[in-house]
Amino acid sequence: MFQNKDTYTFLLDGKTIPFTEEQTIIQAAMAAGEYIPHLCFNPEFKPHGSCKICTVSANGRQTASCTQQPQAGMVVESNTPQINGERLALLQMLFVEGNHFCPSCEKSGDCQLQATAYEMNMMSSHFDHFFPDRPVDASHPEYLLDFNRCILCSLCVRASSDVDGKDVFSLAGRGIKTRLIVNAESGRLADTNFSGDDKAAHVCPVGVIIKKRVGFAVPIGQRSFDEHPISFTPHPALKDN
Ligand code: FES
Repeated sequence: MFQNKDTYTFLLDGKTIPFTEEQTIIQAAMAAGEYIPHLCFNPEFKPHGSCKICTVSANGRQTASCTQQPQAGMVVESNTPQINGERLALLQMLFVEGNHFCPSCEKSGDCQLQATAYEMNMMSSHFDHFFPDRPVDASHPEYLLDFNRCILCSLCVRASSDVDGKDVFSLAGRGIKTRLIVNAESGRLADTNFSGDDKAAHVCPVGVIIKKRVGFAVPIGQRSFDEHPISFTPHPALKDN
């Protein structure tokens, strides 16, 4: 099928996007400089396909663009009122399922959940807040875990397992009871071999894994999404490319 890779294209919101055999829809879109909202996808890792924020319509069928490979001539719609409305509802559910207090969070301005919510024009949480009781883990000398902000993207799980070879984190439970846990008998980060040099220490798209004693080091106004919306900001993993 891919004898001449350069000739394969699909349409994304009317724009022609070239793709290769290895790419999913979102990977091809990113390579072409086009933004499809996403949270659990990170170009450095295998897709997880869990948050569904990246859902698009591909030839009329809704699918996660981070796991779906394109086909030549495929018509993909992403930036439509209906799809963005569904993304907004998913984001609102994420906001009420955890405890996200952006004004006091040091990741404000650097948070993909917050930035994506701005992108989708989210003005309120809409649903009733769950206000779950989730203690923080401050046991580690260098890092704090604030589970209140977790969106279950599994990026720390994948980074620790696939890159660090450590399996410090896991997702446990099912459905609404799914939660991020630390793989230690005590459940405490201090009782693992987690290190600040780990990839897992640097992939959280929200504010769960926080380095201690450097809080608010980057002033508001100079953070990733302060000057430009996330749709105009290259993914952190692509910034040096
Ligand atoms: Fe595709 Fe989360 S980014 S499902």
